[in-house]
Amino acid sequence: MTLDVTTTAAWAKLAKLYESFEPDLRGWFEDDPNRAKTFSRTAGDLYVDLSKNLINSEVLDALVELADEVGLAERRDAMYSGEHINVTEDRAVLHTALRRPKTDELVVDGQDVIADVHATLDKMYAFADSVRSGEWKGVTGKPIKTVVNIGIGGSDLGPVMVYEALLPYKQAGLECRFVSNIDPTDCAEKVADLDPETTLFIVASKTFTTLETLTNARMARTWLLGALKGAGAVDGSDEQNADAIAKHFVAVSTALDKVAEFGIDPVNAFGFWDWVGGRYSVDSAVGLPLVIALGKQNFADFLAGFNAIDRHFAETPWIDNVPALMGLLNIWYVNFFKARSHAVLPYAQYLHRFAAYLQQLTMESNGKGVKADGAPVDTETGEIFWGEPGTNGQHAFYQLIHQGTQLIPADFIAVATPAHPLKDGDADVHELFLANFFAQTKALAFGKTADEVRAEGVAEAIVTARVFPGNKPTTSIMGPALTPSVVGQLIALYEHITFVQGIVWGIDSFDQWGVELGKKLAMEIAPAVFGDEEALVKQDASTQSLVSWYLENRN
Ligand code: F6P
Repeated sequence: MTLDVTTTAAWAKLAKLYESFEPDLRGWFEDDPNRAKTFSRTAGDLYVDLSKNLINSEVLDALVELADEVGLAERRDAMYSGEHINVTEDRAVLHTALRRPKTDELVVDGQDVIADVHATLDKMYAFADSVRSGEWKGVTGKPIKTVVNIGIGGSDLGPVMVYEALLPYKQAGLECRFVSNIDPTDCAEKVADLDPETTLFIVASKTFTTLETLTNARMARTWLLGALKGAGAVDGSDEQNADAIAKHFVAVSTALDKVAEFGIDPVNAFGFWDWVGGRYSVDSAVGLPLVIALGKQNFADFLAGFNAIDRHFAETPWIDNVPALMGLLNIWYVNFFKARSHAVLPYAQYLHRFAAYLQQLTMESNGKGVKADGAPVDTETGEIFWGEPGTNGQHAFYQLIHQGTQLIPADFIAVATPAHPLKDGDADVHELFLANFFAQTKALAFGKTADEVRAEGVAEAIVTARVFPGNKPTTSIMGPALTPSVVGQLIALYEHITFVQGIVWGIDSFDQWGVELGKKLAMEIAPAVFGDEEALVKQDASTQSLVSWYLENRN
């Protein structure tokens, strides 16, 4: 039986604290000049200010007690050592092994995991080098200029997000594109202006069964062979087509037999293992487009960034442990303040896909209604994660965070040194940008009282509309610059935050059964959409009327 967290002494203590809790960030900062210092922490290169959260030392201590009562340390150690903590799939959960140094040792289920990881990394590095140097040639002898990654979910979101985040580190003359959606528009648009002779496709799929990815891969193969034949580069014979596929298609998967069935030479396949969850796989072979775009050293730095946070999470007492504290704070907000969503707001344009990436990480992990033992959960789980880069968000949805009726805890992320130190006249634009970053958490925390509004001469009738209530919790996370290491650190930070929440709720954060039903029904409905009337009448009335409308209206 999984522990009912709501029966723990720490939970009772938190409930009691919440009952009489009166958030007063203004007063707390006035009364305690050390508050910022008391509640700021470092993890790796990240400086994390928790002081504008709705906490005091008692709350933080009770959250730490909760971590102890749910056995967070034991569960973390079980994960790091390869116990099968993904119980519904009976799998180890070892993404932390993907970033451990070669000199470490870890044998799980009879396999030397670290040796396997580094053998694959070496193969990825060698392949990436050959593409980067131009040694790897397409079927007509030309070097590769564009890498198109075909994958979805964890086989897409991580690579896209990190590629965008680290664009300044990309090798000139090489570009990556990402095809994910089964909407044919995605593939059509991404290949439209490409030269097949200089294009390399990476088909990335952990299972190599995913409908979207295999459909897109087949469409890409058809496009490639057709375009090559059209250009007179191949004659369309099976032999020349096979040669073209070998030179323009590689794969990333745990199912190497299925890769071969697709026609991709297993020599050009990069493996990983069932103990890497899709949403935890950007640092596995799934990161191949990144290794090609960024090079070996940058990818190694990226992995070292993850590892720095893994060690921090493993070695730091909870009271100073940033992922643990941030995960526990999320529990405080979700389960006591009943917050239903959490904003992540990077003040870094290069992180513009970070929230999308986090949505899979957090919501596919913790969007669960039963515990690891199958019993219903004991309390709310899985808040909605969302966000956009600042300052764009300021001019869109921040209104609701500042003055709406919901409590939305928010993480603000920024770096000290910009990639582009541009000026507007004398003004350093990055500094202007950061002034916004600092101003927003200040406004959210301290607000503006009615008296302050009146003192500005505002007409009484609109005073309340211009009051900012304040006491909106935020965490500020700052890094030195958006380097490969810092990006790795940020990802690992959120991986462990997600883990902490899952442990407190007693759920299996590493399965994703909730995505299966829709996939199965799509296959059942497909014949009806293709026009099979017998299949159509078997559907429910709403599906029938929708499909019929579609069939009548398709041009
Ligand atoms: O359907 C959800 C999911 O299973 C994700 O967990 C996964 O990242 C994605 O599909 C893609 O799966 P695959 O890498 O096996 O193609």
